[in-house]
Amino acid sequence: MTNFHNKVIYQIYPKSFMDSNGDGIGDLRGIIEKLDYLKYLGVDYIWMTPFFVSPQNDNGYDVADYRSIDPVFGTMEDLDELIEEADKRGIGLMLDMVFNHTSTQHEWFQRALKGEKEYIDYYIFKDGDPQYLPTNWESKFGGPTWEYVPHLGKWYLHLFDSTQADLNWENPKVREELKSILRFWKEKGIKGFRFDVINLISKPKVFENDMEGDGRRFYTDGPLVHEFLKELMEDAEMKDIVTVGEMSSTSIDNCIRYSNPAEKELSMCFNFHHLKIDYKNGEKWELMPPDIHSLKELFKQWQLGMQDNGGWNAVFWCNHDQPRIVSRLGDDKNYWKESAKLLATTIHLLRGTPYIYQGEELGMTNSYFSDISQYRDVESLNYYEILLHKGKSKEEALQILAARSRDNSRTPMQWSDGKHAGFSESQPWIGVTGNYKSINVESEIEDEDSILKYYKKLIQLRKEKSVIADGRIEFLPEEEINLFAYRRQNETEELLVLNNLSGESLTLDTSKLELSHYKYLLGNYEDIKSQEKQLLLRPFETIVLERK
Ligand code: GLC
Ligand code: CA
Repeated sequence: MTNFHNKVIYQIYPKSFMDSNGDGIGDLRGIIEKLDYLKYLGVDYIWMTPFFVSPQNDNGYDVADYRSIDPVFGTMEDLDELIEEADKRGIGLMLDMVFNHTSTQHEWFQRALKGEKEYIDYYIFKDGDPQYLPTNWESKFGGPTWEYVPHLGKWYLHLFDSTQADLNWENPKVREELKSILRFWKEKGIKGFRFDVINLISKPKVFENDMEGDGRRFYTDGPLVHEFLKELMEDAEMKDIVTVGEMSSTSIDNCIRYSNPAEKELSMCFNFHHLKIDYKNGEKWELMPPDIHSLKELFKQWQLGMQDNGGWNAVFWCNHDQPRIVSRLGDDKNYWKESAKLLATTIHLLRGTPYIYQGEELGMTNSYFSDISQYRDVESLNYYEILLHKGKSKEEALQILAARSRDNSRTPMQWSDGKHAGFSESQPWIGVTGNYKSINVESEIEDEDSILKYYKKLIQLRKEKSVIADGRIEFLPEEEINLFAYRRQNETEELLVLNNLSGESLTLDTSKLELSHYKYLLGNYEDIKSQEKQLLLRPFETIVLERK
């Protein structure tokens, strides 16, 4: 097993990272141009979201050909060059494998539509009457999970958009196809894979209505998921490859099994429970202020649960599906810099492999779009209609999208204060966020105190202090709701991490902490405000102390 505990992974959304040929869409050559920046930052791997041939109904998560590159992103030669150039800089590439479903444009689905039995068995088709849905399940993007094909007299299952048909993993031929795709990319020099919604691949034997929910309990961490993963990993010989599974609505018990090396499934798992703490009644499209108490509880449960049972977490705040964290849990107006740095420390010093999503290292904010015409994402556009249907006013619906839309993270990377933030020569496919003149790579490279420099430091520290990668974690008792404090410890080193998650100052009673045994390692204010037996934590202050 490769040692990935001391690695840092950087996520690139190619469409919005860097446009090299002036068509307004980011591309592979754009990534090549920016490799020196990633090397400067110090990351070990780049995970790139899908750039395969696709009708782009879900920005590439609807794959029509797993072995070819969509011309909009470049050519196979460009990718070969990217692999080689990244390798020269000590950076490995990770690809995003969307194996739960394919685009309905994929040849397999097209042949199924032609009535070829062999390919009908690649998907989950059910005979039926157009008037009766096979089950009442709801798609993740809104509406039913079934689509009827009149000329076949069958419904097919799609947990996501109707153009993303779920694959039938029970069919050994499907599993062989997927293994051969992995082998193909490994031979090209790909060093890691992220598996899209991989815990949804095993569907129940019997399809029944869900009277309590939207159907997810029947297919989440489904009956054969662990067997399928073990087989895939073994047959595609993945032991030297870094693998991360995206786990939707999963449980700690399952993630232990997915990521414990003894199980030979995956290197680590993403779970999203900590990013639902501002969903009212668990509903993404209902706003609520973040519940800090549950946030801390979830971190504790997951950190300790995984640690005590040999599991390994991917730790993160941001990705291409999440709003920007500094706008969500921080304060991007009054304490932009402080809160971005605090949030960075909180994640990077937990036990797990940290992921940085492009622009997070700059403190990029939400996009603050105010008109529906600015949005591009299929989920956002669908839910806008659904919200209006449910009786929300346009203003309310737009306010919800402004907080929750996936487009918040998909605006162009802010490289400079120049035209289109230095992302492209021409109008980008999605608008640039208004604050690019002050928030951009160029200006943060100049500024010693920038968020970018802080991320760079955190990445470096992981390499210097083994306790960050392999130390145990222990949480300090909760004294104050907004204090999130923990200790990391191995045989030789110990760190004490104190985070004030709020915009209000708080005083910490340090009588039991033996602070005189520690020295200052890192923080986001210039000095420390401590008095005998008391430490003042200013708004969004983070302090990392090291035992002498
Ligand atoms: C994952 C991806 C998301 C995509 C969905 C369907 O959640 O991160 O972007 O829409 O899977 O493939
Ligand atoms: Ca381009």
